[in-house]
Amino acid sequence: MPEMHPVSIKPARNILGSLRVPGDKSISHRYAMLAALAAGRSRLDNFAPGADCASTLRCVRALGCKVERDDKGAVVIDGLGPHLHAPHSPLDCGNSGSTMRMMSGILAAQSFSSELLGDESLSRRPMQRVIEPLTQMGAQIHANEDRAPLRIHGAKLHGINYAPPVASAQVKTSVLFAGLLAEGKTTVAEPARTRDHGELALRAFGAEVERRHNAVSIVGGQTLHPLEAFVPGDISSAAFFLCAATIFPESNLVIDGVLLNPTRSALLDVLAAMGSRISMVRVEENHGELVGTIALVPGQGRHVRIEGPLTGLLIDELPVLAAIAPFTAGGLEVQNAGELRVKESDRLSAVTRNLQAMGAQVEQTADGWRIPGGQHLHGAEIESYHDHRIAMAFAVAALRAEGDTLIHSADCVAISYPSFFDDLEKLVER
Ligand code: S3P
Repeated sequence: MPEMHPVSIKPARNILGSLRVPGDKSISHRYAMLAALAAGRSRLDNFAPGADCASTLRCVRALGCKVERDDKGAVVIDGLGPHLHAPHSPLDCGNSGSTMRMMSGILAAQSFSSELLGDESLSRRPMQRVIEPLTQMGAQIHANEDRAPLRIHGAKLHGINYAPPVASAQVKTSVLFAGLLAEGKTTVAEPARTRDHGELALRAFGAEVERRHNAVSIVGGQTLHPLEAFVPGDISSAAFFLCAATIFPESNLVIDGVLLNPTRSALLDVLAAMGSRISMVRVEENHGELVGTIALVPGQGRHVRIEGPLTGLLIDELPVLAAIAPFTAGGLEVQNAGELRVKESDRLSAVTRNLQAMGAQVEQTADGWRIPGGQHLHGAEIESYHDHRIAMAFAVAALRAEGDTLIHSADCVAISYPSFFDDLEKLVER
């Protein structure tokens, strides 16, 4: 693992200004994978700049596609159609669960064997959730128990009806990608609605996808066409600034060109309940994805409880919501968030320990937290656990603490947002 540097954060007075955030990570992964399966040249502007999506591009290149940057920085992929080339060596997914789980769906349908590896964190994360349905479809997958490395022996797949036991957009997308390459119809019936970028991306590349309530179906053998697209700003990255602005009474923040897909924007409802006034302007649809400008001014809010299906829709924003909760008027309670234990780190414990290090009162439950509002926190030494969202969440909390905060292994923000600390400093008033 490369050497990781700590970053020191000083308290702030206010959050003020406007910003664009990097391209959405979930959409970038999907567009890159489908571009590989579309015969011809796709051009993906504002492609997510982090290490995770670079892992996906590395895999796509290893599978025989030419991947370049044009003079405007857009990612250009020459896709091969449904039949990719056998890679010469194992495919390295780095820290990226999305890469490993969604690529598995594509590799399961190829006429060659391949191996997917990950870093230490990814090698601890559960993979049975994709192994199970892809095996049912006809592939053979060998894993280390249910962990990476995965050895995938591709096969002629057949469609299945699958009801995943956990609500996961990565699993749904993996099975739909396999379904695109399989014979017959594949249906995924989710236990709760998850982000729908897989479905929207398939449609953007020309496939027909049907949705009935929580069930999504695709008929195999459809041909994709290449895509020219501008990836919307990542709302999960914008979340850090929106949450920062929520805890400073005088703040005023505008984020341009950000994703407003309803399966990703539940954060805005939570921040509104926490007191923020949020307006959306210049809302447009872009290949099925809603994009617009958000303006936020803070106000006096109430206690917020996040539970049930809402928890799933906010899964990536929960660490930062918990990190700002002590500074809100009403505090926060989160339930049904057991999935946080199997993210890049055990995010339930990571958040609890770091909040406690800052002097916060927080109760960790089996699948969530109870965090009272109206607290005063002090600066502390924060452990990121090499998890990008933990490092960024506590950079935000540090702004309202008394005294400086040191975030260890803060370089991990490069997984999703390499320029995060620079962008934060642009908005902070001291
Ligand atoms: C993602 C889905 C979520 C999320 C992850 C990205 C995606 O994971 O936490 O950061 O792009 O589909 P799960 O599918 O495990 O819920």
